[in-house]
Amino acid sequence: MSTITVEAKPNPCEQPLLPKVEPCVIVIFGATGDLTKRKLIPALFRLFRAGCTSDTQILGVGRTEMSDDEFRQLAREAISAAKNVDEFEDSEWESFAQRVFYVHGELDKQETYSQLGARLEECARQTNTHNWMFYFAVPPSLAPAIVDGLGKAKLSSREQGWSRIVIEKPFGRDLESAKELNEQIAAVFAEDQVYRIDHYLGKDTVQNILVFRFGNSMFEPIWNRNYVDHVEITAAETLGVGSRAGYYEEAGALRDMVANHLLQLVTLTAMEPPVAFDADSVREEKVQVLRSIRRLKPEEVQERTVRGQYAAGQVDDEKAQGYVDEKDVANDSSTETYTAIELYISNWRWAGVPFYVRTGKRLSQTLTEIAIHLKRTPQALFARTPDEQVEPNVIVLQIQPKEGIAVIFGAKNPGFAMCTRTVHMDFCYQQAFGVRSPEAYETLLLDVIEGDATLFIRRDEVEAQWRLITPIEEAWATHQNPAVAHYAAGSDGPTEADTMLKRNGHEWRKLSQAQVACD
Ligand code: BG6
Repeated sequence: MSTITVEAKPNPCEQPLLPKVEPCVIVIFGATGDLTKRKLIPALFRLFRAGCTSDTQILGVGRTEMSDDEFRQLAREAISAAKNVDEFEDSEWESFAQRVFYVHGELDKQETYSQLGARLEECARQTNTHNWMFYFAVPPSLAPAIVDGLGKAKLSSREQGWSRIVIEKPFGRDLESAKELNEQIAAVFAEDQVYRIDHYLGKDTVQNILVFRFGNSMFEPIWNRNYVDHVEITAAETLGVGSRAGYYEEAGALRDMVANHLLQLVTLTAMEPPVAFDADSVREEKVQVLRSIRRLKPEEVQERTVRGQYAAGQVDDEKAQGYVDEKDVANDSSTETYTAIELYISNWRWAGVPFYVRTGKRLSQTLTEIAIHLKRTPQALFARTPDEQVEPNVIVLQIQPKEGIAVIFGAKNPGFAMCTRTVHMDFCYQQAFGVRSPEAYETLLLDVIEGDATLFIRRDEVEAQWRLITPIEEAWATHQNPAVAHYAAGSDGPTEADTMLKRNGHEWRKLSQAQVACD
């Protein structure tokens, strides 16, 4: 049972929760792809229904030949299949569908962009806007061709409105390729036209890390090496690789999750207070954290990283096959589906505090959380009691599946004996506010339209992320060390990850320990 309630004073944020944004055309490259169907179209429909984007048009671009109506049909199926879209009336659908169009073309042919330009002019006649968002829902290898095509067709121009590009991860596959892509983009678009997306930053509870830290005065004084013993950041999934093996075989867990989502969680947890809550100030502080994280030397990679791969097992009471038996995965694949890393941030605030990050697929639970483990009390005052010692305090910021915060501390057990027990004080988002948080993609799409880049990754930030990840990838590839450790699907990951923490006298929180009580 959550013990925290929201104060009932008038709150300007409730009126309205979602803003109505200016007219624009959202062009989606990769219009028939997985991301468009699973995330973008449902998010756009929900925003439209909420009245935020009633003057927005959507223009899908893809290689598959299809008419506007066929694309609308695909969009309708995607919306019907989305779990987060409530039932809708035909009339609502019709009104959305009128704003949906399709352009067929190869993304590496200039004529596609000329046709696109012509369609955008048609849209402009109807909506009277030259505001364009170009969303790259395509593999990164296509990004340079799209940037080039847009530039040559003068669609990067800001003469009559705005033109912004949104680029999905992975942004390159290492430092060199990320730099090259940044150069190619910079030749056509100014940095303030570029929105590198990391959908984790669109999650309400991820943004709440900053409110929790910098909107309250009670946590920040202890948020440093004097009080924090170690920090644990986990992103665990029960899902396997599914139908994405083509991409995943190339990426692996390190590039897929650590190089972006997990490093972002590290930056928000560790950053200094920004001078203002705006794009430059926030991103400046995040980059400082990335620059302060000690890069692993090849000889450290063996001790401070673990790479694992799921073997057959059981997840949610169902049999699950091993990674190498998944469709489109090579029998001898050594792609990691699990990674754990021990990081150190060499700055005044965090020197000597280990940050352990781990992520994996086919684990026992789906759970994303940040656990701040505080130091033990300086003196074990209750050492002679039957419980020996009060457990150190932990602050858990849970991102999903239950969104909330738990503070774990010791209390006296009722009774005559001086016994202590560990208790939890929970704040459950859903229960406290009684409303559903918007999906990450809804928040981020609105931010792009509003020109707010605070929750997007800056050029130097993405390069700083790769500067940390590339040496690990290189050491793994050159020395094959550490070897890929296998873990049973449905477990908490390879035992090697436990050994890594044990060396420092620490242990991972059990995944089944999901702390936030929301019932
Ligand atoms: C994506 C990764 O970026 O994030 C996926 O490519 C992963 O492999 C997903 O499953 C996790 O996102 P979420 O929002 O479900 O935690």
